Amino acid sequence: MGDRKPFIAGNWKMNLNRSESVKLVRAIAERISDQPGTDILVAPPFTALSVVKDAIGSAKIYLGAQNMHWETGGAYTGEVSPAMLVEAGCTHVILGHSERRSLFMETDEMIDRKARAAVGMGLIPIICIGETLEQREQGRTFQLIRSQLDQSLKNFREQKAMPLTTILAYEPVWAIGTGRTASPQEAQEVHQFIRQWLKEHFGSGTAEKMRILYGGSVKPDNTKDLMAMPDIDGALVGGASLKADTFIQIARFHAE
Ligand code: 13P
Repeated sequence: MGDRKPFIAGNWKMNLNRSESVKLVRAIAERISDQPGTDILVAPPFTALSVVKDAIGSAKIYLGAQNMHWETGGAYTGEVSPAMLVEAGCTHVILGHSERRSLFMETDEMIDRKARAAVGMGLIPIICIGETLEQREQGRTFQLIRSQLDQSLKNFREQKAMPLTTILAYEPVWAIGTGRTASPQEAQEVHQFIRQWLKEHFGSGTAEKMRILYGGSVKPDNTKDLMAMPDIDGALVGGASLKADTFIQIARFHAE
C-alpha cells in the first residue's frame, strides 16, 4: 500500500432503485465518519446519482458514475456526457469495466477517448483493465495488461502527462462475481507490473503516487490480506458493496 491513501469503491452495477440506493448510502455515511484514513466512493446507476448525492450531504463519500460518453453533447441516444455527470454531483467515473468491454463492445480506443474527456471535465477516471481466464491460462496475462495500458491510456502516454489523481483498477475477469479471488500474490504480481509500466512512461514520482485498486470477489475476509500487498492501494467492490455491513467491513479492513 505504501504511503498512498487507501481507496475503497463500491460499484453497484445495474442494481438498486432510488430508495434502496439512498438507504444504502445513508447507512454507509452513518458508519464511516471514523474513516479519515480511507477514501470511500460509491458508484450507483445513473438514475440514482442525484438522490445519492443529496443523501451523502456533508459525509466524506465520493460519488462516481459507472460509464459515460466522450462527446460533450449531441445526437447520441442513450448516452450520458461528462458534464451531465458533474452536474449530478460526480467526482469520479469508472471507465472500461470488463462488463462494458465484453457485453457492450467497448474498445481500448473508446476508453482512451473517455479518459481524456473525463479529465477535461475535471472528473477523475477509474480505468479498469484485466485478463480473461483463457488469457491467463495461455500465459498471456502480462502481454494483455500491457496492451490494455498502452491503448487505453494512449493519450496520456503521448502527452507524457498522467493526472496523479487517475486511478487504475486491476480486475481479472475470472475473479468478477465468481467468488474466486486472485490470491494476494497473484494480484500483487500484476499490480507491480502496472506500477512498473507507469514508471516507464511517466517516471517514478507519478508511479509511486498513483493508486491501483484490485477488483474481483473482494469480501470482508480477504480485504486485509490483499491490502497488505505493497502495490495494492484499494478495492473496487461489486457484490459485497450492495450491503452496508459488508461494504463497511471492507472499508474498515484495518480493524478486521
Ligand atoms: P464482484 O466484487 O462482485 O466480484 O465484482 C467486482 C467488480 O466487477 C467491481 O467493479
